[in-house]
Order: sequence, then structure tokens, then C-alpha cells
Amino acid sequence: MGDAQSLKITIDRDECIGCEACCSDAPGTFEMDDEDKAVVRSDYLDDQETILEAARNCPVDAIIVEDKTSGQKLYPED
Ligand code: F3S
Repeated sequence: MGDAQSLKITIDRDECIGCEACCSDAPGTFEMDDEDKAVVRSDYLDDQETILEAARNCPVDAIIVEDKTSGQKLYPED
């Protein structure tokens, strides 16, 4: 799997229900803000597979993962 820094990670704040699963799965990448919504840390440190696993485990699919270079959407799948 590639370098996580090649990923573009977006949280859909309207969808996020604050379940914090992403923060347990990939604590180097996601943290909660003071509105109980997940945010992406500026220096995300987890590997790509860990980040994708966190996106898959989000119950409302609020985490969107794209390849920065190609623009290809890696999760969620359409
Ligand atoms: Fe929100 Fe999903 Fe994380 S609901 S806190 S983005 S696991």
C-alpha cells in the first residue's frame, strides 16, 4: 500500500455522528474537535490501509478517501 500522504481525506461534517470509531482505528489521522465531529490531523501518520479501514468502519460513511494524484475515489465506492 502506498504512502498515506498521497491520500486526500475529507470528513463530511453533516454526516459525522461523532461515534469516534475512526479515532480508535487510526488515532494518528483522526481526532475529535470541540463540536464532537471528526477532523483530519494535519500530520496524519497512519498507513494507507489503516486509514481505509477506518473509513470502512465509519457507520455513516462520513470519511471520503481519494488519491491526491489521480483524483480517484478510494472510499466510499460509488
Ligand atoms: Fe464521525 Fe464516522 Fe469518525 S461518525 S467520528 S467520521 S467514525
